[in-house]
Amino acid sequence: MKHMEWSDAYSVGVDVIDEQHRTLFALRNELAECCRAPEAVHSERFHDILAEMFEYSRTHFATEEAFMRSICFPNLELHVEEHAGFIEAVADLSVAIMGNLATPETVLTFLSDWLTAHILKSDHQIRDHLSAA
Ligand SMILES: [Fe+2]
Ligand SMILES: [Fe+2]
Repeated sequence: MKHMEWSDAYSVGVDVIDEQHRTLFALRNELAECCRAPEAVHSERFHDILAEMFEYSRTHFATEEAFMRSICFPNLELHVEEHAGFIEAVADLSVAIMGNLATPETVLTFLSDWLTAHILKSDHQIRDHLSAA
């Protein structure tokens, strides 16, 4: 599984948010590293990292939403819904993995696709909103 490489293209121009996005990339990559070994999906390490990803996403979304509120970001509800959808999907995938109903590739692809699309399309609106102010 390819690693997610951070680049300035992902920056939303807010240090604390960029830093948390980098950590999410790092956790996703740690999960990919862990999947190199056969049967890794049932290892304690895989589940620990996935659980950490879940918890850290919640922390990140809380930080991001608080920041967005502080800058009177419009249509925040829509953004909050996207975050909630991610949390729900990760929880569902964790259960599916345990029951052998999802592969680690499914999880890794979902994480990289969602993070990339959400940061570039939705989180980037923070930068746009700040530069328009
Ligand atoms: Fe977001
Ligand atoms: Fe974000």
